[in-house]
Amino acid sequence: MPETVDTVRPPLMEVRGIRKTFVSRGLFGPAKRTVAAEDVSFRIRRGESIALVGESGSGKSTLARLVLRLERPDSGAIRLDGEDMLVREPRRISLAYRGRVQMVFQDPFSSLNSVHTVEHHLVRPLLRHRRVAPGDAHARAGELLRTVGLEPPEEFLRRHPYELSGGQRQRVAIARALAVEPDLLVADEPTSMLDVSIRMGVLNLLAALKRERRLAILLITHDLASARYLADRLLVLYRGRVVEDGPAGTVVESPAHPYTRALIDSIAGAGRSEPLARRAPDAGTTAADRGCPFASRCPEVRDRCLAIDPAPRLVEGRRVRCHLYPETAAEQEREA
Ligand SMILES: Nc1ncnc2c1ncn2[C@@H]1O[C@H](COP(=O)(O)OP(=O)(O)OP(=O)(O)O)[C@@H](O)[C@H]1O
Ligand code: SF4
Ligand SMILES: [Mg+2]
Repeated sequence: MPETVDTVRPPLMEVRGIRKTFVSRGLFGPAKRTVAAEDVSFRIRRGESIALVGESGSGKSTLARLVLRLERPDSGAIRLDGEDMLVREPRRISLAYRGRVQMVFQDPFSSLNSVHTVEHHLVRPLLRHRRVAPGDAHARAGELLRTVGLEPPEEFLRRHPYELSGGQRQRVAIARALAVEPDLLVADEPTSMLDVSIRMGVLNLLAALKRERRLAILLITHDLASARYLADRLLVLYRGRVVEDGPAGTVVESPAHPYTRALIDSIAGAGRSEPLARRAPDAGTTAADRGCPFASRCPEVRDRCLAIDPAPRLVEGRRVRCHLYPETAAEQEREA
């Protein structure tokens, strides 16, 4: 475990057995049910960064929205510092929760309002969350800009979002999230709309915040290289299930699940074809009721895979949902 991670206190956030389904009704034809999250569990400690990776439609943003309480799961638990967040669902997300869990979204062009200056974007959350006295808000906004590397702050405070580059806007979005001094930052594809040349700057900034402020980060990305760089742990999602979960280096360097291997191979061969991570799931592979959801694409499929959905099992420091590895005693019991 890296030394930035707080292993003394209990986990900051614990997500346990989350399930989320969507039902979409078209004008014609039967209603379509999508399982966007199935039996998802993970924990985040202070100072720890977890990356969620997986192809388009695998359920990454749904999980982010569940953690942010913008969606409610069908079942499961979400605990913040041990307190169950789903027991009593408020009509609106409480100010206290927003003060602890903040987000940065993919599109720095739509996440800021062009009518307002950078200063307005920073002062508003500072005052709303009562982080400073009104007379100190201007100075604190300047400090936040320094933290995210936008200097001289006086110049950037006066600007409007349309007077900034994409990378600068994303830094303002991060500064705005930091204004409330959150414990957890949920970043959904924060660099995917940025030029490759400025992506690294934003990732470095997130890494510094994690190190220096013990900020916990849930990073959602298509980009395994970014995930490997920033994250301590990697969760690989397929059809809403976590198919592999382990230390980022181990998962990237010696993937255990056939889907993780396919994901990594597709990125290595990305020059030749569209990376798997950006592709929508293949047509005709709608989730089977029984068996492993990856069976129809898996080069290692066997009879057992078509009949039984594998439960996670421990494989060299990782949890892997695949019949290639020996079952745990608990699973054997379940199937008996
Ligand atoms: N509000 C909704 N109503 C119906 N289906 C939804 C809704 N939100 C998400 N889904 C479905 O749930 C699945 C997971 O979607 P999600 O947006 O979480 O995927 P993702 O991994 O973030 O994909 P991407 O990489 O393209 O952003 C998809 O099949 C999607 O169509
Ligand atoms: S359980 Fe079977 S089909 Fe599923 S990933 Fe493992 S080997 Fe492939
Ligand atoms: Mg998404």
